[in-house]
Amino acid sequence: MKDERDRKKHDEFKPWVDPVLSETDIFEMELLLDAIARRFGYDFRQYSEDVLKRRLNLYRHECQAEYFSELIPNLLHQPGAMRHLLQCMSVTVTEFFRDPSFFKQFNQMVVPILRTYPFITFWCAGCATGEEAYSWAILLKEAGLLDRCRIYATDINEDALNEAKEGVYSQEHFEKACHNFDLTFGKKDSNFHDYCQQNYHAIKMSDNLQSYITFAQHNLVQDGVFGEMTVVSCRNVMIYFNRTLKQRCIDLFNASLTSQGYLCLGESEAIDYSELEHNFVTIDRHCRIYQTTTPAPDSNEDPLSLEDSGGSIR
Ligand SMILES: C[S@@+](CC[C@H](N)C(=O)[O-])C[C@H]1O[C@@H](n2cnc3c(N)ncnc32)[C@H](O)[C@@H]1O
Repeated sequence: MKDERDRKKHDEFKPWVDPVLSETDIFEMELLLDAIARRFGYDFRQYSEDVLKRRLNLYRHECQAEYFSELIPNLLHQPGAMRHLLQCMSVTVTEFFRDPSFFKQFNQMVVPILRTYPFITFWCAGCATGEEAYSWAILLKEAGLLDRCRIYATDINEDALNEAKEGVYSQEHFEKACHNFDLTFGKKDSNFHDYCQQNYHAIKMSDNLQSYITFAQHNLVQDGVFGEMTVVSCRNVMIYFNRTLKQRCIDLFNASLTSQGYLCLGESEAIDYSELEHNFVTIDRHCRIYQTTTPAPDSNEDPLSLEDSGGSIR
């Protein structure tokens, strides 16, 4: 009987509906977040409140637990439980050339300036399963710039990064990618096929493209700067964070950029709440592409330096 009730509860769960949580639920959620931060070093306490409620409620539901506090012993004693929680916390929805108008605009407004640079470094923060990083590589190849580029693509989610490193995607992904490629570049001699091998069920990104990208784990909550980046792209990531954490990210990106480097936030984010707003000029208001106006701080003096903070490039 209880199993049947549990099954019904499971079937009726609607993850898209914001849960109504009691004061006790919120208190237990905070205890859970403290336990996760102290035991595993993943600190989600500065994610937005709505995101925390929605994602932790999903995790509670998947674990078939009645209370958030029940999840603590589960996490501490069950191997693999933290990995499962990380999957619930990290929304890895993405696609090749997501928001083609953004890439089109970058191509028109920034690429001509990048052509004058001898070497270009890219940091794609929150790259999920890699599609955005490969899109950057393709855009740079189309511009004839890839040979002088290095792309660092990072995420908190190691499983997503493993998929990104493999570079194997479904046929469905491929069709959308072809469509977005055409919207980005218009009619051209080249097309998305040129950058992957295709079989009946899947595509595999070309080894050449992969050789320009380094995928690495990096947590925007606590890890440090990637020094001397010409371009930092962090799209559809900070929407999950509260204001304090967004501010930290902007500080981090500002410290990572070279003088007159470019910051790309995409349509869903802006820097107008940040104290560093005056350090940037707006290149495109709609696509939220900015350029730093001040020299980046000396990375030796930076308190967020990668080495100190435990961040890694593998
Ligand atoms: C919706 S995806 C965005 C992917 C891609 N940038 C795009 O625009 O399509 C958000 C990604 O942010 C990552 N993320 C969430 N919190 C993070 C953190 N603290 N540090 C680094 N990445 C994080 C998630 O794991 C997820 O892969």
